[in-house]
Amino acid sequence: MPPNAAAALTKVSLVGQNKTAVVVGGTLGIGAAVARLLAKLGCKRIIISGRDEKRGTAMLETMKKLAPADSRLEVAFVRGDLSDTKGMRAAASALRAAAGAAGIDYLIMTQNGVPKGFIVPNANGHDTGFAIQALSRVALSYLIMKQGGLAPNAVLMSIANQGSSLDDLSVDDLSLKVRAAAGESQTALFMNQSKRDSTVLDSFIEEFNTRYPAYRHFHLWPGLVNTENFTYDELPGYIKYAMWLGMKLIGTTPDQYAALPVYILTSPDAQETLGPGMYFDYKLNPGKLGKWPSDVKNRKALWPVLMEIIGEEGSEQAVSGGEKKERRRHAESVAM
Ligand SMILES: NC(=O)c1ccc[n+]([C@@H]2O[C@H](COP(=O)([O-])OP(=O)(O)OC[C@H]3O[C@@H](n4cnc5c(N)ncnc54)[C@H](OP(=O)(O)O)[C@@H]3O)[C@@H](O)[C@H]2O)c1
Repeated sequence: MPPNAAAALTKVSLVGQNKTAVVVGGTLGIGAAVARLLAKLGCKRIIISGRDEKRGTAMLETMKKLAPADSRLEVAFVRGDLSDTKGMRAAASALRAAAGAAGIDYLIMTQNGVPKGFIVPNANGHDTGFAIQALSRVALSYLIMKQGGLAPNAVLMSIANQGSSLDDLSVDDLSLKVRAAAGESQTALFMNQSKRDSTVLDSFIEEFNTRYPAYRHFHLWPGLVNTENFTYDELPGYIKYAMWLGMKLIGTTPDQYAALPVYILTSPDAQETLGPGMYFDYKLNPGKLGKWPSDVKNRKALWPVLMEIIGEEGSEQAVSGGEKKERRRHAESVAM
């Protein structure tokens, strides 16, 4: 039986614990709800990030109103666009600096870069949705950790799409350009982009937990959450109707859902109740890795490619032949 997170949180207070939380994608939706709940529980320092300065500043005022007086809440908004490698690297440095010397205790990533069923290349030639949804989580986790920006025992959490597998994913075609060029339909490409995002994130998170056991990195699938900007309009084909029905059946509000990730982060019993797993669904049932991320050979092949994409380990061995060609093609198209 999954725990009742909301009930468990009535016994939790963060006042006096001197915790620093960073919520990426904290201007809206699930991220904003997580930030509000952390403020209510008495978190000491909450830094939110997104592109929209107006919404970000309004959120700071909301959090201050919700915080218990004795928490002496400190808030900050870090503006950043995570659509390409330059933006991801700038955001990692800015967030680390904003958190200060004590480091980040909770790094929660809720930034949205959902599939579209077509490819919009970013400044690096990668699919922009993929860059925001998956690559930016890789970049922020890895770069902030490497720069010493995480507090001891920090918890990282990606709220995105856990548990799917694109079984024939090639690390040479992470943006799925070959499939798109072969004429895959918008609906099929949408489904494959969604599976790809899940595959890459699960693989990275599994590998991160193996390589850096001083930290715990969770990946949660939130089910369907009726956020302020949720829209069916851009969804292709039958997906629109499936989502509409899904929202009716299992949909929650951002504030209802936020209790689950915040329970994992803050409740003293959570680790014992949930066990050692790092993957959970929208009710906190344990999740599993899909076929592709379960294969350690796939994860080992993916890691250096991801590092190269985020601007780390620029060594040529780290890059597969296909990625090199893709980058060359992009460089040529930009130069034309
Ligand atoms: N809602 C659901 O039903 C659902 C279902 C399954 C999975 N998910 C996943 O859960 C996560 C949170 O979803 P959500 O519904 O809360 O999303 P949302 O309401 O659309 O909020 C997305 C957040 O990401 C930020 N963001 C978007 N693009 C960005 C960019 N280029 N650079 C920096 N920040 C950016 C937005 O801030 P700015 O606009 O200020 O930049 C906003 O704060 C997403 O990964 C989503 O795919 C959601």
